[in-house]
Amino acid sequence: MQLNRGKAVFIPVFALGAALLHIHRNDWVVSRPPPKHKVSLTTMMTTQNIKAKSNEKNMTNSTEVGKRSSQSDDEHIYLGSSSNISKSIRRKKLVPSNVICKPNLNVAFMKVHKCGSTTLSNVIYRFGYKYKLIVALPPTRDRSTIGSLGTIKDSDYKHPPGGKRWNIFAHHAMYNRTRFHQLMAPDTRYVTILREPLRRLQSAFKYFHLQRRFPGLKEQTRHGTSPVVTYLTRPQYWDPLYRQPIGNKEHYCFRNCMARDLGLKEKDYDNHTAVQEFVQGIENDFTTVLILEYLSESLVLLKRRMCWTFHDILYTYGRSSRKQRYKRNPPITGAMKDRFYNRNYADVMLYTRFKESLQRQIKERGAKFRKEVKHFKRVNKHVGRYCNSKKKKRPGKMVVPKSRWNDAFSVDRPFCGRYGKSRKYWHQRLQSAYH
Ligand SMILES: *[C@@H]1O[C@H](CO)[C@@H](O)[C@H](O)[C@H]1NC(C)=O
Ligand SMILES: *[C@@H]1O[C@H](CO)[C@@H](O)[C@H](O)[C@H]1NC(C)=O
Ligand SMILES: *[C@@H]1O[C@H](CO)[C@@H](O)[C@H](O)[C@H]1NC(C)=O
Ligand SMILES: *[C@@H]1O[C@H](CO)[C@@H](O)[C@H](O)[C@H]1NC(C)=O
Ligand SMILES: *[C@@H]1O[C@H](CO)[C@@H](O)[C@H](O)[C@H]1NC(C)=O
Repeated sequence: MQLNRGKAVFIPVFALGAALLHIHRNDWVVSRPPPKHKVSLTTMMTTQNIKAKSNEKNMTNSTEVGKRSSQSDDEHIYLGSSSNISKSIRRKKLVPSNVICKPNLNVAFMKVHKCGSTTLSNVIYRFGYKYKLIVALPPTRDRSTIGSLGTIKDSDYKHPPGGKRWNIFAHHAMYNRTRFHQLMAPDTRYVTILREPLRRLQSAFKYFHLQRRFPGLKEQTRHGTSPVVTYLTRPQYWDPLYRQPIGNKEHYCFRNCMARDLGLKEKDYDNHTAVQEFVQGIENDFTTVLILEYLSESLVLLKRRMCWTFHDILYTYGRSSRKQRYKRNPPITGAMKDRFYNRNYADVMLYTRFKESLQRQIKERGAKFRKEVKHFKRVNKHVGRYCNSKKKKRPGKMVVPKSRWNDAFSVDRPFCGRYGKSRKYWHQRLQSAYH
């Protein structure tokens, strides 16, 4: 019996009727044929003998076992509170062993600048709020970063009561393995998000107005041209000219920013050995590295790994992240891209490793995974439409029917009020776990 293979994730659909439910004003009619169960399992397992099975492993080498289960496919389908395995067995429905799982409540999400990480932070804060968890908070609401340049001092955060450790981290910080292991609850899963490096730079240029940080760059940019193009003509010339804004401790992150946020030191940017070791270290420490270009796929993978639900991973683009869509793509040539990639070796290595790894995982999971992603996208879109509709016209709640990947659940007005809210909103709401 393979416990953790991510294959054969079938869920018996007890209430197919619910799948034919019509949602408000008929704008979402789900009707799907019953899934064909070609379950290859020959043994039915009860909760008891699943436990016995896992105990067969020699747990002496516990770090090894723990690591393997988070690195390999420790994936599950959450059946929700209404699920009852013995009931389903009585009904002679075969249930694969991997449906039994408990949601993982400890997660450190390392925010990386301009990678869609604000969107993800909201998901994580919401999760912390839902389960009344201890979420890492800075002492005051105006700070977006906890600690500085990899150091987290005692004065940099609000102290949890009774010496408790954080369940959730979703602020900006530079990843420091040692420090995070001291501050986070044991058994924390580390999660982060990456983005194609050149796209990330473009976004950072817009968001931070980086042209102001390089003296002369604005003047050398022809009217109507994007300043990022001027920068990309000679990044090696501009980089040393960078001028820090007064009062900021950290620079705005234009070079190897993703690697920097994840803890690579500047002196190692061009040391290929150090970069390899660094990337390997991230691979060892992190359960899931999301890729912005595959956001839905990444989230479904995260959901499976963490034993979360669709409800937990619903997302919407926050106010700060989506508005800055480019009206026109700046004329970036292949040569500019090559130059930029050369100067951002660490980011390119990091991104390439995890993008390829994600693509491989998606491929391995095959059609069933793709169907789940497709369904999640539909659900997410409809929830978004509901939450963004005019308040007066919005019905009191919207029901998302049960599918083979989720229990039925509903979203309501209070949910929409929290949906897409950023750090400052959460700073207030999340205090309650500290009392
Ligand atoms: C587990 O492995 C350790 C070390 O190899 C060994 O001493 C111990 O007897 C094993 N336990 C079981 C239950 O096999
Ligand atoms: C535990 O894991 C380490 C690292 O993989 C290995 O060298 C060691 O032999 C393992 N010990 C046991 C008892 O299996
Ligand atoms: C599961 O179902 C069995 C049989 O119907 C019942 O005895 C048991 O109490 C149920 N357990 C839960 C947690 O609902
Ligand atoms: C990481 O944290 C440890 C433990 O607090 C500290 O000793 C070390 O200096 C930190 N590293 C950096 C780069 O700040
Ligand atoms: C490059 O990194 C490796 C591994 O961290 C280190 O041993 C080596 O001294 C570094 N080389 C230079 C020139 O800094």
